[in-house]
Amino acid sequence: MNAQLRDQFTQWCRDSVFTPDMIQATLILNRAVDAHLIQLYRSLGMADLLSEFSNAATVTAQLGFETSSDVVLEGLLLRLADRRGFVEVQESGGETLFRNKQTPEDASAELQKAHDEMHELGGEFITALEFLDFGAEQFVRSLKDEPDFMDQVLTGKIKDYSETWFRATNVDPLQDVHGIMGAKAVNDLFPGGTILEVGGGTGNGIRNILGCLRDNDNLGRLEKFIFTDISMQFIMGTRHKIRPEFPDVKTEWRHLDINGLFADQKIQPGTADLVYGVNAAHIAKHTVKFIEQCKQTLKPGGYVVFSERVRMKDREMAPREIVLNLSKYHRTAAIRDPEFRPAHAYLSTDNWLRAFELAGFSNVSIWPDMDAMAESFPDQYAAVIVAQV
Ligand SMILES: C[S@@+](CC[C@H](N)C(=O)[O-])C[C@H]1O[C@@H](n2cnc3c(N)ncnc32)[C@H](O)[C@@H]1O
Repeated sequence: MNAQLRDQFTQWCRDSVFTPDMIQATLILNRAVDAHLIQLYRSLGMADLLSEFSNAATVTAQLGFETSSDVVLEGLLLRLADRRGFVEVQESGGETLFRNKQTPEDASAELQKAHDEMHELGGEFITALEFLDFGAEQFVRSLKDEPDFMDQVLTGKIKDYSETWFRATNVDPLQDVHGIMGAKAVNDLFPGGTILEVGGGTGNGIRNILGCLRDNDNLGRLEKFIFTDISMQFIMGTRHKIRPEFPDVKTEWRHLDINGLFADQKIQPGTADLVYGVNAAHIAKHTVKFIEQCKQTLKPGGYVVFSERVRMKDREMAPREIVLNLSKYHRTAAIRDPEFRPAHAYLSTDNWLRAFELAGFSNVSIWPDMDAMAESFPDQYAAVIVAQV
């Protein structure tokens, strides 16, 4: 992949994307996550449940949560152990065990301070905290009382929460950055022709791509944009928003389940010039088989571009997982593989590189250069995986 383009992309991320406000907002967000987790730890009585070493599955059963909730509790406990230190972790016989060292102080003042600081930053940064608040509020409901609740929210089936999800994926600047970065990579690489977007949802991908191509006078290169998702509610909602703004762009709006064969769903092999996904690729049950499907759909020389949140540390719970982990699909669907899929949901950049290699790609790279970014912003979490057949 063109090394010069990647270097320019890294420089652009440093100068124009991860501004001091974005870096500050990320720090505040991380503190707010910890404070929420402390409050949950306290309200669920976890200090008592962990008076002796115990694993997340046992605590899950004691709380009467749906069985796969151990994924959530393990993430919560590991994060608190790592960042706050009042939980002790022991690895024993292939199991991860936890013990309460000291009951944490009430964190409501810390949470309020995070909200105040985020408000002071201005813009739409507060949206990032609204989404955490939503996860904390719906925690017990999702894990105990209505185990399919969050799956329904995240696929647009509960109208009351569609605005919450729209704001979380499109308005929150810490999230929109994935769409902005993905769009810039597409603008840099796309030779022209057809773009297929997978898991397009509420439209962060298509909105940013069409906007970026237009702003760079490159919209003429686009012959067709095929927007897909598994949720017809999302597809119709996005179509309604995008079409008036880009009436001259040829678009198709289609159902596509990324866990199935694309050709069985009327997406024929060798028909796309670029396959795109923003925070969609990690949803696939079998990562490598899904990438193979993307590869088959491409014309010779075509590109796959996935803009993704990536795990920077093994097993680290990402801020949004306070909500996403409340979905049973997120916790259980991914077929684990130590080589490329060690955990549920997000993958690391090394996991992605290996998965693409196993799917038959030899020309793959991660934009920006994550090591170079880490020098100025150690918590940088967004990457674009670009691959060419
Ligand atoms: C995390 S959201 C990302 C949405 C959008 N790309 C964005 O960033 O705003 C994941 C999307 O994947 C969709 N999805 C879930 N399961 C899917 C599947 N099996 N096939 C295709 N899309 C799926 C959801 O409906 C949702 O829109």
